[in-house]
Amino acid sequence: MNRITSFEQYQQEYKHSIETPEAFWAEKAEQFTWQKKWDKVLEWNFDEPTIKWFQGGQLNITENCLDRHLETRGDQTAIIWEPNNPKDEVRKLTYKELHAEVCRFANVLKNNNAQKGDRICIYMPMVPELAIAILACARIGAIHSVVFGGFSYKSVADRIHDAGCNMIITVDSASRGLKEVPFKNIIDDALQICPSVKKVIVYKHTNENVKMVANRDVWWQDEMKKCSSNYPAEIMDAEDMLFILYTSGSTGKPKGVVHTCGGYMVYVDYTFRNVFQYNDKEVFWCTADIGWITGHSYSVYGPLLAGATTLLFEGTPTFPDAGRFWQTIDKHQVNIFYTAPTAIRSLEAAGLDFVKPYKLDSLRVLGSVGEPINEVAWHWYNKYIGKEKCPIVDTWWQTETGGIMISPIAGVTKTKPGFATLPLPGIQPALMDEKGNEIIGNNVEGRLCVKFPWPSIIRTTYGDHNRCKENYFETFKGYYFTGDACKRDEDGYYHITGRVDDVIKVSGHLLGTAEIENAIDMHPDLVESAVVGYQHNIKGYGIYAFVVCGHERKDTDLLIKEIIETVTKNMGAMARPDKIQIVKVLPKTRSGKIMRRILRKIAEGDIHNLGDTSTLLDPSVVEDIKNGAV
Ligand code: PRX
Repeated sequence: MNRITSFEQYQQEYKHSIETPEAFWAEKAEQFTWQKKWDKVLEWNFDEPTIKWFQGGQLNITENCLDRHLETRGDQTAIIWEPNNPKDEVRKLTYKELHAEVCRFANVLKNNNAQKGDRICIYMPMVPELAIAILACARIGAIHSVVFGGFSYKSVADRIHDAGCNMIITVDSASRGLKEVPFKNIIDDALQICPSVKKVIVYKHTNENVKMVANRDVWWQDEMKKCSSNYPAEIMDAEDMLFILYTSGSTGKPKGVVHTCGGYMVYVDYTFRNVFQYNDKEVFWCTADIGWITGHSYSVYGPLLAGATTLLFEGTPTFPDAGRFWQTIDKHQVNIFYTAPTAIRSLEAAGLDFVKPYKLDSLRVLGSVGEPINEVAWHWYNKYIGKEKCPIVDTWWQTETGGIMISPIAGVTKTKPGFATLPLPGIQPALMDEKGNEIIGNNVEGRLCVKFPWPSIIRTTYGDHNRCKENYFETFKGYYFTGDACKRDEDGYYHITGRVDDVIKVSGHLLGTAEIENAIDMHPDLVESAVVGYQHNIKGYGIYAFVVCGHERKDTDLLIKEIIETVTKNMGAMARPDKIQIVKVLPKTRSGKIMRRILRKIAEGDIHNLGDTSTLLDPSVVEDIKNGAV
């Protein structure tokens, strides 16, 4: 497939994509295997919202990820797996082998009564079987809902329940760094409160002794032995659901973002090839867990659609030491490396001694994703990892956008530290003022929206279409609203400054403050809590919790420990507050609304400039909170 190789070409493609979007995307879509060609490229209405791409078209994404490559690259490595412990054996699967495994597992799913349209929850560590499970679901037309392995049993249960999953795919247990994660035990706990689940398929990964429930739990390996590696792909409509992926919102309840088969395929492939300028036979490594959208789009679907070699890494950046990423790059001769600013900052803090032993000379392109990258981290990444030879693509996008939206094209777009730079072809960003007017021109700042659909835009929030409408399409009528604030500089370059709603990015994970508050409030002694973010050198944002206790507890240290345990149990370790302050009351307006603006300032240590507090029910509470800040 042709790709953009010069800035002039980018400008031409961009123009074409805006003037004749349907023709533009039809050309991209032509290059895939369709069982039946579409009748209509696009039908849309942002008020409803209804967005349909390639209506009437029929396909299966796995035919495009796998079957299509068998003739030309059947023996090429599709997946390289680097285990948690670098001393353990690496695994490699060729396209032929991956195809066979996916088909075999598709038969396993069918044998265990999975049907087209069923929702299947996948709760696994970063092993090749996670990719196989995803693709096998897509092969039979089941909708996968991957839940990140860091979520607690309660969060997993909520997500299983919301999607009405009847099957779960998991492992016995796994290690992340030195930490053991008891996957199957967590699922057993979740299933106590999820009666819809009839089947659990368990991949034996560590040989840990786990309990298997008769008639419900089966071993992956045993089931695979019974099945053939032939499974003709289910034919799907372009707008059939491909997957649900939960993301945090302003309310306590996570949203099940829905992506569909045709548009997602076309967009993820296009952005993968262009942004990273992938060349045949190169090794691509996206460090994100497949439990997040980055892993879905750029560890699995994007690279496989493009016939690339993708590296999956089970471990952590700091095990056995902070040189693990760099060692792995040399070991597998990685050419394109895509990671998060929080990882860059923590490895920068560990010092150059962990970088020096490695050559890093296979690297050609570097990427950043998930949060704004600060200039210091950008320069460190550029100098010490890219050796000032590798373009850095700072890619802005979201779970809801499915693929990269604003980003340099490697080597083509001139970069600026901290800037996601320019919209990709097909993407029409708009900055809005508070009154809902679009801000025209450069050197401006506003709320970031998109005014025209692209193929992998969110279609709905599972089971609650109105929530999708309210969240993304009502704030600015006729626009998709991202929830981010953004600047556009004199060159028309975009610089995303952060969220404007009650979600925070903690170590690259998007967490709803209301969801964390719900988890904290499970502690029996607490009456209520308010969570805000504060700037944190490594994590981007840290979690600051103000909590109100129902009766006096003198053992503050123990109470804080208990609160942390409560959050870990009810949401997951990544949502543990960094700071907890016990307060008598929360600052509330007369109508009972918590004044988060004040709490944010206190959490940032900006206590001399709290602004207007006169609308508070009792302005004196602010003094107490200020004095007790941690
Ligand atoms: O605030 C933006 C930030 O991450 C949010 C989306 O998070 P999530 O759905 O978890 O997807 C993360 C991976 C795509 C955005 O609303 N964000 C993402 N990428 C960037 C970013 N902020 C600044 N620069 C980026 N490159």
